[in-house]
Amino acid sequence: MGCFSYNLFSSSPSCQVPVTGSFACQFKTPPYKQLPTLFKQKRKQFNGCQRASRVVSYYALKTPPYKPNALEPYMSKRTVEVHWKEHHGAYVEGLNKALAKSDILYGYTLDDLVKVTYNNGNPSPEFNNAAQVWNHDFFWESMQPGGGDMPELGMLEQIEKDFGSFTNFRNKFAETALTLFGSGWVWLVLKREEPRLEVVKTLNAVTPIVWGDIPIINLDMWEHAYYLDYKNDKENYVNAFMDHLVSWNMAMARMARAEAFVNLGEPKIPIA
Ligand SMILES: [Fe+2]
Repeated sequence: MGCFSYNLFSSSPSCQVPVTGSFACQFKTPPYKQLPTLFKQKRKQFNGCQRASRVVSYYALKTPPYKPNALEPYMSKRTVEVHWKEHHGAYVEGLNKALAKSDILYGYTLDDLVKVTYNNGNPSPEFNNAAQVWNHDFFWESMQPGGGDMPELGMLEQIEKDFGSFTNFRNKFAETALTLFGSGWVWLVLKREEPRLEVVKTLNAVTPIVWGDIPIINLDMWEHAYYLDYKNDKENYVNAFMDHLVSWNMAMARMARAEAFVNLGEPKIPIA
């Protein structure tokens, strides 16, 4: 994500210091449509780079913006702790281990790392962990204590314009979540070209940023997200998210940010 912070260290055991100086030139954010080409260029660039030690980038496990018990009784402290520390944490650890094997993917923002490793639908081995880190960072911030109910003002107006009514949107979101077979995610996204809101689902780790949609909220439909609290009652889980957890405040902030960049014709939209 745009605000994601890196901890950068040399992988050489004798040189555990933050990377500075000439390596700063690697922090480029390539235009989205040129990513596959730039991926190849970056490979050539690193192959020809003269360095004393291999350098990789590491990603941190971001902390949810509330305490683990803050979403109770709709999402238990135990669910948040297990989901965040064990599942989300495992994706971060898996990503860092994968990246440590090669420096080809050094220096990308997490957004661009996800897009590059998606590789136009032929994902590289790093994709699943990278995308799941992105999806979970986004998911925790899609909820808030005392959330749920309805959005207000422009967000509500846009939903009513694109779905006919808030009830229609809610029904479509729930139906999409409950008809998702296996593990995956349901999303409210802003379609960049029209622009209009749409509900989409993705399987496993796939995230809509890989085809250019702008996520506004997401809901984790992997079993680890709901089983401790709701067992197999996914309908109850989805209703609890809609009625008590979803952060329309964050959705409105993301929407305002996205609209500003879309209206400016900016092809790369940083996600709050
Ligand atoms: Fe999850």
